[in-house]
Formats: sequence, structure tokens, C-alpha cells
Amino acid sequence: MQFHRHRRLRRNQAIRSMLKENHVHVEDFIYPIFVVEGENKKEEIASMPGVYHFSLDRLNEEVDELVSLGIVSIMIFGVPHDKDECGSSADDAHGIVQKAISQVKENFPSLYVMADTCLCQYTSHGHCGVVEDGEIINDASLERLAATAVSQAKAGADMIAPSNMMDGFVAAIRKGLDEAGFEDVPILSYAVKYASGFYGPFRDAVHSTPQFGDRRTYQMDPANAREALREAASDIAEGADLLMVKPGLAYLDIIHRVYQEFNLPVVAYNVSGEYAMVKAAAINGWIDEKKVVLETLTSFKRAGAELILTYHAKDFAKWLKEGSI
Ligand code: PBG
Repeated sequence: MQFHRHRRLRRNQAIRSMLKENHVHVEDFIYPIFVVEGENKKEEIASMPGVYHFSLDRLNEEVDELVSLGIVSIMIFGVPHDKDECGSSADDAHGIVQKAISQVKENFPSLYVMADTCLCQYTSHGHCGVVEDGEIINDASLERLAATAVSQAKAGADMIAPSNMMDGFVAAIRKGLDEAGFEDVPILSYAVKYASGFYGPFRDAVHSTPQFGDRRTYQMDPANAREALREAASDIAEGADLLMVKPGLAYLDIIHRVYQEFNLPVVAYNVSGEYAMVKAAAINGWIDEKKVVLETLTSFKRAGAELILTYHAKDFAKWLKEGSI
């Protein structure tokens, strides 16, 4: 009988390692960090075991540990005290994110710091744009977003990552950055962001659940794939430098299509709900956490992601360092 013996190439560890097609490196990670106002705070986020809120005076100890683990990049999310209708604290030069960025860049100059650019943490209604008469107003939001991006670049952000899904946000932010002299600051566009149930723990963490309605007039319908390509194409035309697909796991097909269709680097966002599910199962002893995390992160690489924004980054970097994975 004629058949192919695929198992020849799986006989021992040496040949399996030699033929491994995709690897996860610590340089692939962007690690999200949540900063809050106040003092002496390191508080675990209930639905995200192992992830904390840090006040600025406790931030350096965490970043120090990340750097010693070899993590090269972080994304800073701010949880401000003050919220209002138009999210005025988002572009405050002394806002929580701006202060966190400059503190980290001052103390860890070679760490690559990205800023999430959105309004939802800063608006009283929790939407990612400006609201008038119960509607999210696209063009009025663009000015606020551009101002926020510029304030983050002024604070020292190495990269701007807008996650708001308004139309024209990349063009508006690019123009704002260029006019302020930040033509060398790249934009990582959350080009393809779905209206997803997987953001639940994040919204608890930053108190950004919409107070009315939902995000389906700006975030995408999970049923759509071709629309993702239109979103990505328009962001490229507007000047995006990298493209994010979010969430990651339920959208590996989208990561792959964006990777195949365009030649910009693709970033996968392994979101809070994906992290929470793995952690909950691991804590209960239902899965082998290391195996599942390695498999998950590898799947993003296999799909075509260059970088992975993931809450698992710190654990994974530790496991790599101690050689336990
Ligand atoms: C804000 C934003 C969200 C996330 C990142 N930036 C939430 C949302 O759109 O409601 C989710 C991240 C995660 O779940 O880990 N626009």
C-alpha cells in the first residue's frame, strides 16, 4: 500500500524543533498596563487575575520587572478620575496617561511605549466619541482624538494606537501629529475592531461600559469579513503604519486575510475576555495554562500577526526565562 509517512518528521524533539514553522518570542509582545490616580495602589482586577491597576508611585516597580523579563513594549491605558460629556481629561497634559508615559520614558528610555487613543475611559457616557442627542458624532470626535494623540506624543509616546473606530480617525490623527512636529511617531490603527463580548473584563477594569446603547454603530459586526478589508484599506490610505485586528482568537481568519491582502505589519489583540477564560479554567485546574497560552499565542503568529498585544506577556516571558515552556 502506498501512503506518506508524515510521522518520520515527528520522531524526536530534535527534528520537531528543526521543522517548527512558527515561534513566539518575547519581542513579539506588547504588554497592556492600567494606570490609576491615587497613591500606593496595586490592585488586582477581579476578572483578570494577575493584572493590576497601578498608581504612578507603584508603576516603576512593575515596569522594572517587565524590562528585566525582556519585554520591549507596553501599551498604557488610563483610568482617570474625571469624566465628562466630551472626555476633556483625555488630552490633559497632566492627565493620568500623559503622566504615566513621561514617567516611564524618563525612567526606562529604551522601553517602547504605546498609547491607546480613545475617549471611552474619559467620557461620562462611556462612548468612544462625542455624543449629541444620544448619537455618537463622527467628525466632532476626530478633533478630540487628534488632540489626545498629540498630547500623548508630547508626553513621549513612541507610538499612537487609536482604538475608537470613528471614520477618518487615522487621517485626523496623522494630520494632528504632523502639524505638531511628530511626523516620526507611527500610528498603529485598530483598523478592524469588532463589537465583541470579549471586552467585558477590560470595561470593568477601566469603567468604560457605555451608559446607553452599545458600540455597534462604530465597531464591526462579528459576522463580517469583507468589511474588515475595506476598513483596513481605508486606514492604509489615511496613513496607518500598522494594522490591528481585535479581538484575536475568534478572528484568526481575519488576521490571516489582512496579512495576505496588505503588506503592513499586523498586530493581534488577545483581549481581556480571552485572557479571563484561560485564567479561570487554569485556576480551576481544568486546563494546562502554559500549554494553552503557548498554543494560543502561536496561533496568532501562524495566522500572520507580527506582534501580539496580550495580558499573558508577563507570565509567558517568565516561563521563557525559567525555561519552563
Ligand atoms: C477602548 C478599548 C477597548 C479595549 C481596548 N480599547 C474596549 C471597548 O472597545 O469597549 C478592549 C481591550 C480588551 O478587552 O482587552 N475603545
